[in-house]
Amino acid sequence: MRSRIRSRRSRLIIGSWILLLAISPGANTIAQTPQGQVRNSVNPNRVIYTPTNGQTIYLDRCALCHQPDGKGKTDGSNGFPPLTGLSEWMSLREGQLYVAHAIIYGPYWGDVLVGDQYYFGMMPRFGPRFTNEQIVAVIRYVAEELNTPLPGYKPITVQLVEEARRLPDTMDAVREERSMLPFR
Ligand code: HEC
Repeated sequence: MRSRIRSRRSRLIIGSWILLLAISPGANTIAQTPQGQVRNSVNPNRVIYTPTNGQTIYLDRCALCHQPDGKGKTDGSNGFPPLTGLSEWMSLREGQLYVAHAIIYGPYWGDVLVGDQYYFGMMPRFGPRFTNEQIVAVIRYVAEELNTPLPGYKPITVQLVEEARRLPDTMDAVREERSMLPFR
């Protein structure tokens, strides 16, 4: 008797799920969209931080780890890589794309080698929390204020950030992109 009630209830639950999937608008598109695209997209509910000035964003959201002067931090057990020494990457389209992907993707952790130093800290996922314009602003601050732009430098565009959002949402992809860049 009990088990019959239970099975009737579970049939009801399964039935209402099917109904929900069938009637809710967009449910099918979400199911068909590769997971990365949904997770990487800006989420209007999570953009609760509104500043658009690159320096403000950097000091509020990046300096805790990368330090206000961008020199990073090596003491302690993990460490955060410097964001200085990036002039060459910032003058390359692939370099800008990787940096945007590193900010969008997360949690980004593992071993990042800069010079002869490995960094093992963790960087949170900023993709859903920042608009493309905010990502442009903070990358421009890194490129133009923490580093010295090389001749021929072109500021990153909203289009390139959007392109970075569509890159595969895996750490392997981020690492692969980094490994193709000149050693820094
Ligand atoms: C909680 C600490 C933390 C915060 C906050 C943080 N980062 Fe990071 N960031 C890291 C760590 C750690 C790495 C290296 C990832 C690894 O070890 O795999 C990293 C890597 C990077 C890289 C790639 C460097 C390289 O050599 O490949 C860039 C670019 C970067 N961060 C930019 C930013 C920007 C811009 C912000 C602010 C929007 C930011 N980070 C906020 C910890 C942080």
